[in-house]
Amino acid sequence: MKVDRRTFLGRVTIGASAAIAGLVGLPIVGYLFAPLFARAAPTFVEVGKLAEFKLGETQLVHFKDPSPLAWAGQTAETALWVRRRATEDFQVFNVNCTHLGCPVDWRASARLFFCPCHGGVYNEDGSVAGGPPPRALFEREWRIEGDRLLIREAALPTPGGTR
Ligand code: FES
Repeated sequence: MKVDRRTFLGRVTIGASAAIAGLVGLPIVGYLFAPLFARAAPTFVEVGKLAEFKLGETQLVHFKDPSPLAWAGQTAETALWVRRRATEDFQVFNVNCTHLGCPVDWRASARLFFCPCHGGVYNEDGSVAGGPPPRALFEREWRIEGDRLLIREAALPTPGGTR
């Protein structure tokens, strides 16, 4: 079969365009659909030794939260409130108020968390005691490994969200 020059160049152009579109488009398609197939195993990170947490007390631990954004920088530095309810029973709260995200403060004498921004108040179990917060403090999944307290890595929840 004889192919004239115009037809040949047309086919070469279409083939080259398809190859370039494939090279450019494949990573985009992969990026869009990868979350559907990715199932990363949860990872737990240490927040302290068990001996550091006194029974019946709530204390602050500093923590670097993982962030999906490489440029999160300083914003990934956060803290958690760790409440030791029993020898092997904890509650771990995100430090951020569930209203608009201000860091809450624990007052041991009142056994309450207070938010300095709009007067939100939480009970020691994290439930709302008063003020504008729409829900209890966000809790982190935890577990004990040997003599260490670990929490599950997770992105910071959004105030007002359901997590
Ligand atoms: Fe805490 Fe508004 S941010 S009450």
